[in-house]
Amino acid sequence: MSAEVLRLPSREPLPEDRPVLVIDLGGQYSQLIARRVREARVYSELVSHAVTPDEVRARNPYALILSGGPASVYADGAPRVDPALFELGVPTLGICYGMQLMAQDLGGRVDRTGVSEFGKTSLETEGEGALFAGLPVEQTVWMSHRDSVVAPPAGSRVVAGSPSTPIAAFEDPARRLYGVQFHPEVVHTPYGQDVLKNFLYGIADAPPAWTPAAVIEEQVERIRAQVGSDRVLCGLSGGVDSAVAALLVYKAVGDQLTCVFVDHGLMRENEGEQVVETFGGHFRVPLVAVQAEERFLTRLAGVEEPEEKRMIVGEEFIRVFEEEAAKLGDVRWLVQGTLYSDVIESGGTEGVAAKIKSHHNVGGLPADMKMGLVEPLRLLFKDEVRRVGEELGLPERWVWRQPFPGPGLSIRIIGEVTRERLELLRAADAILQEEVRKAGLYRELWQSFAVLPAIRSVGVQGDERTYAYPIVIRAVTSEDAMTADWARLPYELLDTISSRIVNEVPGINRVALDISSKPPSTIEWE
Ligand code: XMP
Repeated sequence: MSAEVLRLPSREPLPEDRPVLVIDLGGQYSQLIARRVREARVYSELVSHAVTPDEVRARNPYALILSGGPASVYADGAPRVDPALFELGVPTLGICYGMQLMAQDLGGRVDRTGVSEFGKTSLETEGEGALFAGLPVEQTVWMSHRDSVVAPPAGSRVVAGSPSTPIAAFEDPARRLYGVQFHPEVVHTPYGQDVLKNFLYGIADAPPAWTPAAVIEEQVERIRAQVGSDRVLCGLSGGVDSAVAALLVYKAVGDQLTCVFVDHGLMRENEGEQVVETFGGHFRVPLVAVQAEERFLTRLAGVEEPEEKRMIVGEEFIRVFEEEAAKLGDVRWLVQGTLYSDVIESGGTEGVAAKIKSHHNVGGLPADMKMGLVEPLRLLFKDEVRRVGEELGLPERWVWRQPFPGPGLSIRIIGEVTRERLELLRAADAILQEEVRKAGLYRELWQSFAVLPAIRSVGVQGDERTYAYPIVIRAVTSEDAMTADWARLPYELLDTISSRIVNEVPGINRVALDISSKPPSTIEWE
């Protein structure tokens, strides 16, 4: 009897088949390292420092990167890794605490030398190192450490030093082990990204294959495999995440997708129309747009307390959404715009990095809907979502939209939300947006918007005394909304916004600027 060996259909390897694993040792920059690796177009994931050598082997990574961490390697309970990781032959880069851990585990020595370094330092490289290939011999780097490596791992060579840290980088090409004391991932290290690229491309041989086009192709394949010929439902919020998620699913399964957009009447000017035009019109995605302003305003009538507003909007949203979903009949899948940072922050990597507060989004849909979840953004950071959106042809304005809270303008109107007050705020906000864009500042700002307080003040317009509402300008810069600084907008811009608002929006007679940072203030007023 002869057996025939059947060939299985082979598929092209995907970028994420071989990741770079960033091992989280509790540093504030762990996530940033993973992002920087991806900016170099190499797929990376953040994993717990408890990862075992077997688990690592199973992922067949191009490289390991050990993050920094707040601890001293000698402290009780300091996060550690299994030293057997260093014997896998996988190219490994230790950063800051990660480097110190490598030194300690591999026969070097770490000490509190009495010299701490925080901030910019001048680094001198020794010329031959692979990490610094093609880079200036002297460069500025960002340091943040108390302990220092005083003897590098046995067999390794010191390839860079700074005035107070003579061992600022080491290399052991034979064992494929590398360490840097500084932080290549932060912008204050101007050549940091080049150092990472040297490690990724030159040392680890990782190809720059993680591109928006590759992400789309791969997600489309996955979505198809997941949903088959079933029908899929997606809630659109007007934000970039749900838009990109919807477009990916539409590309994958076409008319099996239905999008539902609940217009709660708390959107900014023209936003609702834009959703309908872009999705229903331009992309021709099957779209159910529900005009629910009346319902929301009725329920919000007389409500002044911020958390109560939030609850009402959230609850009513789910109600409307469920009603629409029920009309569609047999729908098996629900699209959710979960991002990779949500996965990480909900403890997905069991990292020791501090958990970051999560906000419920509209898109935070009913928990008891009996549908499976399709999460096409689960592997992506926000900036990657935007790039995928661009690649899918989502209009630029949409791709770069600033975050907007689920409860919408209801939490930017202090006190009761009424149609009249919504109109005032919407008109003032539209002017502010237009001027901020015209000044070329829209993308630089994390958020910029108008707030309508519940007080009135006296003014004079023409010969008439007015008694009307003010508008507060709120504009902040931020990385992640956890902390924020008030934006130093140019006086000319503030002047234009202010005079346009008081002249063009009847009912507003004064404009004020919010100059508080977070903490102790928050970004929103409610
Ligand atoms: P705060 O005001 O807490 O806001 O500094 C931080 C970020 O979260 C947004 N935010 C919300 N987003 N539902 C949301 O979807 C909410 O209830 C909510 N409250 C605040 C806010 O716009 C900022 O980006």
